[in-house]
Amino acid sequence: MGGIRKILFATGNEGKMREIRSILADTGAEVRSMKEAGISVKIVEDGTSFEENALIKARAVSAALAEKDCVVMADDSGLVIDVLGGEPGIYSARYMGEDTSYDVKNANLIGRMKGIPDEKRTARFTCAIAAVLPDGREFTVQAAIEGRIGYRPEGEGGFGYDPIFYVPGFGKTTAEMTADEKNRVSHRGKALEQMKEVLRENEGFDCQ
Ligand code: IMP
Repeated sequence: MGGIRKILFATGNEGKMREIRSILADTGAEVRSMKEAGISVKIVEDGTSFEENALIKARAVSAALAEKDCVVMADDSGLVIDVLGGEPGIYSARYMGEDTSYDVKNANLIGRMKGIPDEKRTARFTCAIAAVLPDGREFTVQAAIEGRIGYRPEGEGGFGYDPIFYVPGFGKTTAEMTADEKNRVSHRGKALEQMKEVLRENEGFDCQ
């Protein structure tokens, strides 16, 4: 069943959408957001893992979609800080309230990390992606990028928790990386590359 040329990505997050478009550009497929497709569904993300939540979103949007020639993808991602018992984890978007600014959220997390030495500041961004094909088949993948929580926010790029996520191999935060640099090594970049491969292998997708 080759020939799927359309992807609907189930997110309302513009920062994510920018990255996703860039990473999927080489597929040649038309990539639309929910907003562009005119879909708004109330999704209760009550899963207990990134993977479950990604599937919940992709299934809900696929069910609401009238067109049946479209792969629906969704991601669920977040920041996992080891010394905080994995917080904010699957609650990353909701941490301190959905409408609280990331300046405030980032300052709060740095405050909670006060006095914690370098080697215990380990963290990762994790991203699960789910795809629902028009014939009902479902696929999930997951990837992560390892880093450490910084001592102060650095950088203007990216979005969300990027200014406090320091990647030792690069000597900078993901907010200080160029968009291409981040997409090459990020949780979302790696998970989307895996998903392209899965869809290629399953002939649901013609990557150019
Ligand atoms: P989701 O929309 O439920 O997947 O929430 C993901 C949340 O995790 C985002 O709103 C950010 O707070 C955080 N997050 C995920 N990926 C990144 C990233 O690449 N940079 C910074 N924050 C991220």
